[in-house]
Amino acid sequence: MSNSVTLTDNRNGKQYEFPILDSTLGPSVIDISNFYPTTGMFTFDRGYTSTAMCRSKITFIDGEKGILKHRGYSIEWLAENKNFLDVVYLLLNKKLPTKEELGSFKQELKTRSFINEKMIRLFSAFPDKAHPMAVLQACVATLSTYYSRDMNFDNPIEYMELAKRLVAKMPTLAAFYYRHSMGYPLIYPDLDRGFTENFLYMMRSFPHSRVDLKRIEVKALDSVLMLHADHEQNASTTTVRTVGSTHSHPYSCISAGIGALWGHAHGGANEGVIKQLEMIGTVENVDKYIKKAKDKNDPFRLMGFGHRVYKNYDPRARVLKKMRDELISEIDIDENLLKVANRIEEIALNDDYFVSRNLYPNVDFNSGLILKALKIPTDMFAVLFVMGRVPGWMAQWMELKEQDTIKIVRPRQLYIGPKDSLNENNE
Ligand code: ACO
Repeated sequence: MSNSVTLTDNRNGKQYEFPILDSTLGPSVIDISNFYPTTGMFTFDRGYTSTAMCRSKITFIDGEKGILKHRGYSIEWLAENKNFLDVVYLLLNKKLPTKEELGSFKQELKTRSFINEKMIRLFSAFPDKAHPMAVLQACVATLSTYYSRDMNFDNPIEYMELAKRLVAKMPTLAAFYYRHSMGYPLIYPDLDRGFTENFLYMMRSFPHSRVDLKRIEVKALDSVLMLHADHEQNASTTTVRTVGSTHSHPYSCISAGIGALWGHAHGGANEGVIKQLEMIGTVENVDKYIKKAKDKNDPFRLMGFGHRVYKNYDPRARVLKKMRDELISEIDIDENLLKVANRIEEIALNDDYFVSRNLYPNVDFNSGLILKALKIPTDMFAVLFVMGRVPGWMAQWMELKEQDTIKIVRPRQLYIGPKDSLNENNE
């Protein structure tokens, strides 16, 4: 085999050959699907840092160069020329929409944005202080009970229906959670408003006062959603694909994805960024916390810095930084918070600890500040991440379903426990 690698077991000199699969962009992949039957050994890759878990045509990332592309379009070009719903269409339909296609897509999402009235009772079941990510996870799982006939379907048209329905309902679920938690009257979607605008409208309006939304606010939120739309095989997407591999209901897969995204090492980081900036409090305190972040014996980490894949500036963070500057030139933001954020960024971009470890600001650093400026409650930041990511998850789930055979995700392990606990001599 010419396009292959040969592995030599130095214990006995045995050689094994594995094919190399070439990608259209990025690293080639060694196909080790037959590694265990061939060698009698497993491979070990904690956190899957060197493992490709699927073939995909959706999103490409080059973490070294700071490149992100959806279906071949760079994120910078999309952010400059398109809106969130264009990218949703692109991810789901594998092509950008024409003007007419986008028009009917928007219309369809509007009419699907309502939720079954019975589901509203669900919000009363949660305690007042319930975290919105837990509520959202439960809501999406509950949606599977309304569309359960789709459990055993095998039809791409049905997949698309499920995807559009979920994208359309997420802002309503998120806004209803907020209104209910505050004891405010629910505001239903307004069919005369666009997707992103509608969310802010449902969050902020009251029956007696129509909300006045600035164009820049809608644009900034639209950018945040777009920049979160998909990100290759990250922890939550891998979760969606893993649950999908068992042929579970797609909304159950997405609900599991929300659970994975909740954690502060993933989507919970934008909430962590603001909480941390508030805790640091003043520019004078920044040095103390930078010192803590650099101390190996201190678990403190700078939220919004570092990324598993990007070892260069996260391209999404760059786009959002521009948007953040545009936004704060037009609306008020806590100046002190901004000063602390700017000082941290300045130090981190120049300090040897961060530079040598390639710890650049990630998307959460700036999205946290934008969402704060948009007066989104801090504990809802990750919910906005979910709203943005649902189309990516659904596109990845649909891609999984398009495969001829779906292999259930079932990794192995390096067992290091006792050999035989009934036998005293465990050696
Ligand atoms: N602050 C201080 N030190 C850090 C940070 C940070 N934010 N991130 C990584 N490091 C250090 C580690 O201590 C480690 O140092 P060492 O080599 O001396 O041991 C080195 O940088 C490498 O870090 P790892 O944890 O091995 O990197 P990994 O790729 O596993 O983790 C992660 C990436 C989880 C994002 C990490 O950088 C982190 O915890 N960042 C803060 C949380 C955050 O912003 N998460 C959002 C990620 S983006 C997203 O999900 C959309």
